[in-house]
Amino acid sequence: MLQFKITDSEFKLFKAFIYDYAGINLNDEKKALVTSRLSKRLRHHSLNSFTEYYDLMVKSPPGGERQITIDLLTTNETYFFREPKHFDFLKKEILTKWVGGKTFRLWSAASSSGEEAYSLAMLLDDVLQAHPWEIFGSDISSRVLKKAQQGHYLQDRIDGIPLEYLRKYCLKGTGEHEGTLLIEKKLRQRLTFSPMNLKKPLGEVGAFDVIFLRNVLIYFDLGTKTKVIKQLVEKLKPGGYLFIGHSESLKGINEDLKSLIPTVYQKNIQS
Ligand SMILES: C[S@@+](CC[C@H](N)C(=O)[O-])C[C@H]1O[C@@H](n2cnc3c(N)ncnc32)[C@H](O)[C@@H]1O
Repeated sequence: MLQFKITDSEFKLFKAFIYDYAGINLNDEKKALVTSRLSKRLRHHSLNSFTEYYDLMVKSPPGGERQITIDLLTTNETYFFREPKHFDFLKKEILTKWVGGKTFRLWSAASSSGEEAYSLAMLLDDVLQAHPWEIFGSDISSRVLKKAQQGHYLQDRIDGIPLEYLRKYCLKGTGEHEGTLLIEKKLRQRLTFSPMNLKKPLGEVGAFDVIFLRNVLIYFDLGTKTKVIKQLVEKLKPGGYLFIGHSESLKGINEDLKSLIPTVYQKNIQS
């Protein structure tokens, strides 16, 4: 198979593109990753260089090759019940104490293929029971959102799901679907997934009781992080909670947030 080589100036073009569009900071170590992920698109279009591909991509209409490049340059690693301490905290400190009469609203703000949002849905359904709740999932990558909407996963990716929830909320694939798992329709229907670029204005999404913003801040520099957090905190209700990933921090970001435990914050009640 033809191997393509990316030059330093070509790499800079893609690096600037994904930074300007998504805030994702690709360091020079990501050169090999960019080469391998985009090479298939050069083959697909029968192109000879990354410069040709870049020109084609930037001229493409919305949703076209530009979106494919974004899909390929994002890292979408995720799994069910990732960072279980967050689920324990949510259950013990928030859900079991929940007394509000209104719908409990939760946002999985870089949801990837949906494993995080469905894990949260299982927990909310189990703990809140008849109390109304809704979950909104969003991501910049349309490819992963499609997967999230389907709620259909390979069985080797479901390790984190408690047995009780597997029985209650998941259907085991048979026949041609052997080795897969489908999130039960009744649960799936309660989630909404929509494309959203956290670097751009967020639009009308309403106010949330809880926002999960996990394992995406690591791709941003301080300027982008500050802007993203500011926008999201505006979407939190007073007293609402923000969860970030365990390897992430809000150091240097001055928002109206109180740290409860590492990586879990609460918006000031008076805000
Ligand atoms: C590593 S995954 C994290 C998924 C999940 N939150 C978790 O912790 O398992 C990071 C996700 O952030 C998304 N992402 C990156 N930049 C983004 C942006 N500017 N706006 C929205 N989503 C973005 C990627 O597409 C990717 O699916």
